[in-house]
Amino acid sequence: MDAGRRSFNLSYMLGLHSLTPKNWAEQALARPEHLLLDHYFCELKAAAMAQRTLKLYGKKYPVLKKLMIELAAEEMTHAEQCQRLLANHARVQPERGGNPYAQGLRKLAHASGGTGDFLDMLLLCSLIEARSAERFKLLADTAHGTELGRFYEDLFASEVNHYVLFVGLGADYFGEQRTLARLEELRAGEAALIRSLPGGPRMHSGPQV
Ligand SMILES: [Fe+2]
Ligand SMILES: [Fe+2]
Repeated sequence: MDAGRRSFNLSYMLGLHSLTPKNWAEQALARPEHLLLDHYFCELKAAAMAQRTLKLYGKKYPVLKKLMIELAAEEMTHAEQCQRLLANHARVQPERGGNPYAQGLRKLAHASGGTGDFLDMLLLCSLIEARSAERFKLLADTAHGTELGRFYEDLFASEVNHYVLFVGLGADYFGEQRTLARLEELRAGEAALIRSLPGGPRMHSGPQV
């Protein structure tokens, strides 16, 4: 499958408004130790986010209990896989100043205390999963035939499932029409955000590495 066709399919499947160029993966993989360390923290945050979702909304939406416990466990497994791969590389220091992608996404969310808060929380999680899946696919294709390539291929499949899970929960609780309309708004904000971020070997850096 050629690159243009793959990009079309990814864009269609994940609904992202801004596609990452292929050279992002080539340049990110030139510094795998930095990429893996940033990725490790992303997986830890994903596990913490699943636990937070359960804590905040588990009482009101009991179905979350099983789903979020399983999700947190899966994200922790991904973090441990990153850790194992990091052991093959030189130690590096984490970037300072937090994660500008996560900080930027939080600013997009409703924070009124209404039901929109939970819908936005679900949809922001879905967007993080979609963007991660897009980038894992680029990394998998670029590192094809290597241990890292196989790792990213597995994660791609996993994060696509998580993306579907969060959008599905939104549709179950808030209706498909409202969920998809809000998702489109947030997708536009996410695209503008990621285009504005500096480059670098991070999972959610800007497109210029
Ligand atoms: Fe993950
Ligand atoms: Fe995930």
